[in-house]
Amino acid sequence: MQIIRDIAMLRRAVSALQQGGKSVALVPTMGALHAGHLSLVHMGRRVADHVVVSIFVNPTQFGPNEDYAAYPRDEARDAALLAQEGVALLWAPDVATMYPSGHSTHIEVAELGADYCGAARPGHFDGVATIVSKLFNQVGPDIALFGEKDWQQLAIIRRMARDLDFALDILGAPIARDADGLALSSRNAYLSKEQRKAAVVFPNALKAAAKAIAGGADVVQTIARAEADIVEGGFDSVDYVALADPVSLERLHVFKSSARLLAAARIGKTRLIDNMAVG
Ligand code: PAF
Repeated sequence: MQIIRDIAMLRRAVSALQQGGKSVALVPTMGALHAGHLSLVHMGRRVADHVVVSIFVNPTQFGPNEDYAAYPRDEARDAALLAQEGVALLWAPDVATMYPSGHSTHIEVAELGADYCGAARPGHFDGVATIVSKLFNQVGPDIALFGEKDWQQLAIIRRMARDLDFALDILGAPIARDADGLALSSRNAYLSKEQRKAAVVFPNALKAAAKAIAGGADVVQTIARAEADIVEGGFDSVDYVALADPVSLERLHVFKSSARLLAAARIGKTRLIDNMAVG
């Protein structure tokens, strides 16, 4: 597996991979890889001839009091895992390559980024959309894969690719979960043993709520019950539990057909997100 840090070299290497009409799938990551990322790589290998993974901890998607500095970084470990998985190329630029001095252009995500995580993390999705569009332009993949755990992020990236005419397919991969149901996340590494044990209340409360709503229970009351269960189970606060249209992300107060239950909650200093299909 080649590790590349220079944009011109990256373009040459990807063109070589695409010779003879071969396809390339991109898996954008911030490193600290876990089985969820590897499931994206596996999916990439199924749908394309070659997989390119990017690792870049993107400063512009972190707020001033967030965990940018503390975000787990171990490129050697990540690279070894990716090499074992048959990844062709690791794109691992530094901050100066991604944001050269004087960088002043960014993408602004309008209504899709205003609610949910966007409300709790102002500017977050502008940072995500900007870096993902740069990755698309740098790598030039045929397909890009994202985890469904960040459902709002996936919806925003799909909309951005459509709005800005990126010529690639965006695929979402199902959420990878630990045996007890907690969604895999690089931020799970921040949890103490006790917090990790308690964290199972989060997926459990969402699963119960999704089932109840699909069965006809009142949406507002069911969400209030789920939020109370999450806090009673050991979380410090709930940013939101909301029923949303899966594509427009519009909040739904009545369940009609398919919807997504989206949630974020804080345990200690760690903010976890999750979501589940309803119906
Ligand atoms: O989901 C992530 O890990 C990041 O938001 C992404 C898509 C790699 C952009 O930095």
